[in-house]
Amino acid sequence: MSKEAGPFAETAPSAAEAEAGERAAFRLAVLDGLRRSPRAIPAKFLYDARGSALFDAICELPEYYLTSIETAILTDCAPEIARLAGPGCALIEFGSGSSVKTRLLLDAMPDLAAYVPIDISRQHLDVTAARLRGDYPALPVRPVCADYMTLAALPPGVGAARRIGFFPGSTIGNLTPPEATAFLRRARALLGEGGALVLGADLKKDPQRLHDAYNDSSGVTAEFSLNLLRRINRELGATFNLAAFAHEAFYDPGHGRIEIYLRSLAAQSATVAGHAFEFAEGERVHTEYSYKYDDADIDALASSAGFTIVRRWTDPGRLFAVIYLKASS
Ligand code: TRP
Repeated sequence: MSKEAGPFAETAPSAAEAEAGERAAFRLAVLDGLRRSPRAIPAKFLYDARGSALFDAICELPEYYLTSIETAILTDCAPEIARLAGPGCALIEFGSGSSVKTRLLLDAMPDLAAYVPIDISRQHLDVTAARLRGDYPALPVRPVCADYMTLAALPPGVGAARRIGFFPGSTIGNLTPPEATAFLRRARALLGEGGALVLGADLKKDPQRLHDAYNDSSGVTAEFSLNLLRRINRELGATFNLAAFAHEAFYDPGHGRIEIYLRSLAAQSATVAGHAFEFAEGERVHTEYSYKYDDADIDALASSAGFTIVRRWTDPGRLFAVIYLKASS
């Protein structure tokens, strides 16, 4: 029998193969992004090993309330989520990372038919799957190595159980409104009739509070942002002078989003994989949007993608929301 390949492969590609593939995709995306006007590099590349560790540190910052508030909401509402989902369903997580919040749901749903983490990083996926198999020996863990923005189907092993999607961390906010609708439509198709989705979304609030969450006083966020250039230097043999770029993040109330850039502090040039790029003083490279939602935004998003809102939970300060959506019939 030929070796199975693709997202459902049981045998992972060798570490070297996976790394070569990821590096080639990174190189293409960076060159393409730097040739655009305005320049932009996709935020998913922020999360190399050091970037992931820095992001974990961001999640612990006092200014970055999102993680602690969402965790508190999920801790409270997990039993109700389990009741709404019903027995014997499969939990599908979009962009699972280290699956920390997932454990709150796994603990509340002891009879899951399967847990299906979907993640673009094979390494993250393998580590997470191994840990979860150790901690939940009765739980079938069926990892899928894929970009959840383009994944067309789930592996046959997931079976016919009712599917509950999980998309925490306000990652929905990192999608533009049309991308968010497209993602939810795709999720609805993957989850099928009778499917449901547990969504975490950061809420619109005092702009200063939002600004501080992306401009922390200890500089961890700036370090995380600049780590993208460090990664490009290391992996693509580039020559960015990190001291000549700065992290920039601000809230744009018109679009209801935080905008995140790397700003060139001087006129300078840099070489990336043998290609030279000029940067004007003050020129920005966009890396991320983080859209903030209110109830009406969430209603509009859900109905644009064929979902009905069953339940919403928020904290007393109304900073963050967890929403349970079901596929409209
Ligand atoms: N998903 C996170 C968010 O929107 C990503 C994030 C937090 C981020 N801080 C950042 C991305 C700083 C780039 C730079 O909140």
